[in-house]
Amino acid sequence: MSVLAGRHILLAITGGIAAYKSPDLARRLREAGAEVRTVMTSAAMAFVRPMTFQAVTGKPVHYDLLDPASEAAMGHIELARWADLVLVAPASADFMARLAHGHADDLLATLCLATHARIVLAPAMNQVMWANAATQANRTQLEARGVRMLGPGHGDQACGEVGTGRMLEPTALVAQLCRFYAQGPLSGCTVMITAGPTREAIDPVRFISNRSSGRMGFDLGAAAREAGARVIVVAGPSAEPLAAGIERLDVESAEQMYETVMQHIEGCHIFIGAAAVADYRPEAPPAEKIKKQEAAISLRLIRNPDILQAVAALESGRPFTVGFAAETHGLLEHAEGKRRNKRLDMIAANWVGRPGLGFESTTNALEILWAGGHVSIDQGPKAEVARRLIEIISERYHAQDSTANSGS
Ligand code: PMT
Repeated sequence: MSVLAGRHILLAITGGIAAYKSPDLARRLREAGAEVRTVMTSAAMAFVRPMTFQAVTGKPVHYDLLDPASEAAMGHIELARWADLVLVAPASADFMARLAHGHADDLLATLCLATHARIVLAPAMNQVMWANAATQANRTQLEARGVRMLGPGHGDQACGEVGTGRMLEPTALVAQLCRFYAQGPLSGCTVMITAGPTREAIDPVRFISNRSSGRMGFDLGAAAREAGARVIVVAGPSAEPLAAGIERLDVESAEQMYETVMQHIEGCHIFIGAAAVADYRPEAPPAEKIKKQEAAISLRLIRNPDILQAVAALESGRPFTVGFAAETHGLLEHAEGKRRNKRLDMIAANWVGRPGLGFESTTNALEILWAGGHVSIDQGPKAEVARRLIEIISERYHAQDSTANSGS
C-alpha cells in the first residue's frame, strides 16, 4: 500500500503555464490512494478549466472565498481542517509573495493561513523571476516557517529561456511526496498520544473539567503522522479537528482514559501524555441530579489513576515515555521533579495561565528536559511547536534505541 493511501491532499493550482500538468498530478495522487480536493486561483483558471479537475478528482473544485453556495458546501475553514497536506503546484512567484506576507485575499491564501497542515510548494516561473532577490527572500522566509519546496527543476522554459524555474513533473512530485512520508523519522513506529481534558462526573448532568482544548495533543498527532508513524490519539472531549489518518479513541473520564490507554499500549513505541487529566474525581456521583436544597454542599474528591506514571512503570514493552508539565510557577523545577518521580524519558514543560501559552491558546512554547539534556522551543503556532517536539522525541528515541542495541 502506498504511503499516500488515505492522505487528504488539497491540491492548489495558481496561475502559470505549468498548470497544464496539474490534472495529471491530481490523477497520479489519486492512483497512489490519496483523497484529493482542488482549489484554484482566478489566474489558474485562465490556464485550465475547473471542470477538468472535477472530472479527474470526482469532487467539486473550490475557487471562490465569497461565494455563499460553495462556502455552505465546504467552506474555507472546513477545507483547511480537512487537509493533512496542502500541495500548491504550480506555485507562482506572486503566490509565494502573498503566502510569505500572510495575505488573505482569495480562497487559497486564506485557507493556507487557516490550516495546521503541512504546506508544500512546487514553484514554477521564469528563471529570472525565480532567481530574483525578492523571490529568494520569500522562499527563505517560507522555508523558515516550515513550508517545503519541491523543485523547481532546470531546463527549457515555456518563455523560450533555459534555466531553473520549471515545475517538477507529476511523477517526480508524487515520488518526492512518497519519500517525504516513507522516510519520516518515525516510520515503522506506533505513537500513542493522550489529548484534551477529562470530565469527572458530579452527577448525571454536571462535571469537573479544565480548559484543555485538545489542540496541543492533536497537533502532536498530526506531526507524528507526518513523521511517518502510526498514531493513536486517546482523546478527552474536544471540539477541535483531528488530522486524517489518525486512529482516535474517544473517552470522557480519567478512569476511561486510563483503561483505554492500558488496553491499547501494547506494541506502542512512544507514548506522549499531552492530556490534562483530572487528578481527582468526585468519590460517589449519585445516579440522579443533585437537587438545590442545602445552602452548601461538599464534594469529596478521590485520586484518579496516573496514566503517565502507569505507562512509564510498565515492566514489559515499556514505550519511550514523554510527559507534559503544566505549571503556573517554578516551571523547570516542577517539570524536572515530575520527570524524575514518574521515571519519564522526557518531559515537555509549558506555562499555563499566561496569554498565548498552554490551555486553549493557538500558540505555545516548551522547555524540553531529559536526563542530561534541555532544549527550548520558542513560542509559535502549536502545529509548529508540535513538529519540533516530535523531531526532538524521535532523535532521543533513536539515540536510546541505538544505545540499547549496542549493549552499552
Ligand atoms: O489542550 P490545549 O488547549 O492545546 O492545551 C495544551 C495543554 C496545556 C493541556 C498541554 O500542553 C499540557 O500541558 N498538558 C498536560 C497538562 C497536565 O495535566 O499537566 P500536569 O502537570 O498536571 O500533569 C503531568 C503529566 O501527567 C501530564 O503529561 C499529564 O497528561 C499526566 N497525567 C496527569 C494526571 C493523571 N491522572 N494522569 C496523567 O497521565
